Amino acid sequence: PNPSNMIPPPNIEERHVKELLLCGPGPCNLLPSVRQALTGPILSPICDEYFDIMSDIRIGLKYAFQTKTELILAVSGSGHSGMECIITNLLGPKDTLLIAKRGIWDLRAETIAYKHGIPTYKTEVPITATFSFEQIEAELKRLRPTALFITHGDSSTGTVQKLEGLGHICHKYGTLLLVDTVVSLGAEPFFMDEWEIDAVYTSTQKAFSGPAGIAPVAFSELAQQKINNRTHEPPFYFDIKLLARQWNCFEKRKEYHHTLSPPLIWALRCCLIELSKETLQRAWDRHASTTALFHKFLKELGFEFLIPKPEDRLTTVTTVKVPSGCSEQDFLKYIRQKHGIVIFGGLGPTVGKALRVGIMGVNSTPAIADRVAKAMADTARGCTKSKI
Ligand code: GLV
Repeated sequence: PNPSNMIPPPNIEERHVKELLLCGPGPCNLLPSVRQALTGPILSPICDEYFDIMSDIRIGLKYAFQTKTELILAVSGSGHSGMECIITNLLGPKDTLLIAKRGIWDLRAETIAYKHGIPTYKTEVPITATFSFEQIEAELKRLRPTALFITHGDSSTGTVQKLEGLGHICHKYGTLLLVDTVVSLGAEPFFMDEWEIDAVYTSTQKAFSGPAGIAPVAFSELAQQKINNRTHEPPFYFDIKLLARQWNCFEKRKEYHHTLSPPLIWALRCCLIELSKETLQRAWDRHASTTALFHKFLKELGFEFLIPKPEDRLTTVTTVKVPSGCSEQDFLKYIRQKHGIVIFGGLGPTVGKALRVGIMGVNSTPAIADRVAKAMADTARGCTKSKI
C-alpha cells in the first residue's frame, strides 16, 4: 500500500462532559462503590479469580430474583440481550409466543420473535392500564401458546403489572411465563420461584445504579426442561447451554465461551453486594416511600399523572402529562440546562404524551424527589411563562 494513500490519523478532540442528575427512565447515576468497582483489575477469561467473581454474581442474583434455580447468570449486552436470550433459548419456529402488549418493550419482543421465525399472538390493553388475569387467561385458554411474554415495569408508559398468581395460570395451560424486569428489579417486589416465573431478565443501569452492558437472566426448572428438549438452535452468543458451562451453573467446567467485560462483572458484583447490604425489603420500602413523596409533591405542584390508577403506577418511572403551553422538547431542554437534571419525554406509544421521570436506585431519596419536583415546577413556569 502507498503510505500517501493512507487515511491520516484523526484529531479527536478532548471533551469535558459534565455529570448530570440522571432522572430519566434509565440509566441512573452510578453508586460511588460501583464507580470504584469499575476500575477493578482486568482479568483473563480463564483465570480462577474471574470464575470466582462469576460465582459471586450467581449467588447475588439468586437473592435479587428470589430463586433457587441454578440456571442463572448474566449475558453480555444491555437489557435487550436478556430479552433476546430468553426468547431465543425457549422458542423456535415450531413454538408460539403470546405477547401482552401495553408499551414498547413488548413490541421489541415481537420484533425479536419475528427475526427468529417465532409465530406470535398479541393481547392488548390501553397504554395507561395493566392486564387483568381474566383477559390473559382467556387468551391462554384459546391459544395455548408455548410462552407468554409480559413486562413487570414498563418504562415507556410508567405502569407496573401485577404478576403474583400469573405463573400458576400460565402453567394450567402448559404455557411458560417470560418476564421483563429491566426497570423494576430491586425497586418493586419480585419473587421468581414463588410467582412461578419461568424466565426473567433485568438490567444493571436502573434500580441497581450500575453501568449498562450486562444483563442478568434466570430460567426455572420447567424452562430448563424445554431448553433440553428444544429442536431449534438459538444464536451462539446467547446459547444458554454454552453460557451455563462458562458460568459453571451445573458443574465446575470453567469453559471459555466469550470474553466478558471485567469492569462490568466487577460492577455487577458490587451492585449485588450493595443490594444484599441494604436488603431487598429495605430497597423496596425506600423506593415506595420516596416515590410516594415525589407523587405528593407533583400533585401539589399541579402535575397530572398519565396513569389514572395509583396502583398501576410504577415505582421507578413516573409519567406525567406535558404541562399545557409547553413543548416536550422545551421542557427537557430547560430542566437540563437550568437545573442539571435529565428527564425523558415519551417513548413508543407515549411519544408527545408524557414526561418520564425516573427516581430510582441511588437517586431514590427524599432530597432528590424534592429537588426534581421543584425543578419540574420551575421548568413548567419557565416553559409556559405562567404559573402551573
Ligand atoms: C429506556 O429504557 C427507556 O425507557 O427509555
